[in-house]
Amino acid sequence: MAIDPNRNSRIDWVHRSCRLLAAIRDEFEVTQPFAGLTIGTGIHLEPKTVALLLTLRVGGARIVATGNLNSTQATTVNFLQANDINVFAEATMDSDVHGQSLARILAEKPDLLLDNGGDLFVRYLDSPYEGLLGGTEETTSGRARLKPLRDQLGVPILVINDSPIKQFAENKHAVGQSIFESYMRLTNRATNGKRVTVFGYGACGQGVAGCFRAAFSTVSVVDTNPVTTLSAHFDGFATPLRRDAIKSADIIVTETGAENIITADDIPNLKDGVILMNGGHFPTEIDVAEIKASPLVVRCTAYPEEGIESLTLIDERVLHILGGGHMVNLSGPRPLGNSIESMDIGFALQARCLERVAQRKGQGAGGGTGDCVVPVPIDIDARVAEDYLALNR
Ligand SMILES: NC(=O)c1ccc[n+]([C@@H]2O[C@H](COP(=O)([O-])OP(=O)(O)OC[C@H]3O[C@@H](n4cnc5c(N)ncnc54)[C@H](O)[C@@H]3O)[C@@H](O)[C@H]2O)c1
Repeated sequence: MAIDPNRNSRIDWVHRSCRLLAAIRDEFEVTQPFAGLTIGTGIHLEPKTVALLLTLRVGGARIVATGNLNSTQATTVNFLQANDINVFAEATMDSDVHGQSLARILAEKPDLLLDNGGDLFVRYLDSPYEGLLGGTEETTSGRARLKPLRDQLGVPILVINDSPIKQFAENKHAVGQSIFESYMRLTNRATNGKRVTVFGYGACGQGVAGCFRAAFSTVSVVDTNPVTTLSAHFDGFATPLRRDAIKSADIIVTETGAENIITADDIPNLKDGVILMNGGHFPTEIDVAEIKASPLVVRCTAYPEEGIESLTLIDERVLHILGGGHMVNLSGPRPLGNSIESMDIGFALQARCLERVAQRKGQGAGGGTGDCVVPVPIDIDARVAEDYLALNR
């Protein structure tokens, strides 16, 4: 259908590389799990998402799609629109503008929601409508937002992030690689001999720390959980106190899912020339607005096409911020995001989980709050793992 064998854009390359989704498409073409249903999606509009959305559409769904803050790619939007997918999205860093796109998705009263960060489900509660069957949430950050709302939501919501497969395949290995790739892509600076501090040693932080160590950097880890910090120590990373870790760092990466990890209060301790970058979902881990507004900052030199801002301080130290504090692996020139294989696996989980919720039956999606904001059912994990291994033997 949508992919022309004679065309060779990045979207086509990605589409052909998503082998798990291709197999699911063949199956869905016959089984039609979403016949008569509308799926509203709020996930990064970039080439890998095309492969997922076309898979859902082959399965009979009508799709209304928007993206996330600062990651919408115009070529992806144009491609989807040319393929009968209603897209309400524009590339923006403005949460009010993005909020209008989310509202347009919900105005279509989708039967299923595919959420990324909890934006759609949280807004759904502002004006609930009849007929929402449930859906999926992709991220750690979204799970944290939605869990306290389980009683109000009351529909099956399967959290893709809580699949062990997603934890190691995407969060650990792929996020680590792509945050590292983004540092190289945006700055073209060396990693050798640099002191890197990673905030957060969850799956994502573990991958980031490991990739910089493999690239000959000296890596420190700061995590508020002492048990997690101990595991970083056993993995061979330095685990200095927060203040010392900040003072020594040439590169600081935030990967916590929490807010205000680096703020204006840290400016006095930051090293001259430090590079600040965020890999967490929300652009609130580094408080860029507060840092820029600090009276200690005398000048901001922006390199808009490079995704770099350099702040000169009153004492002539310079701080560099990548991607405006947004997820750096979807920022800057030619952002690629996580590897195709990792997203193929993650999106296979998405397709199978949405199929399960649409079926309104079975383990993990039987209805009621018992299935609201819960991990991917284990039989779906097993099936996706088996399918991926079979394709790679
Ligand atoms: N960039 C990407 O492509 C991408 C992909 C997947 C997930 N994410 C995002 O990355 C973030 C981290 O995800 P994860 O799965 O590793 O989460 P996680 O919950 O497994 O790990 C987060 C870690 O941060 C620690 N932490 C919390 N507050 C802290 C603080 N103030 N200082 C230091 N450490 C702190 C926690 O103790 C925990 O160990 C989330 O926002 C997630 O949505 C990004």
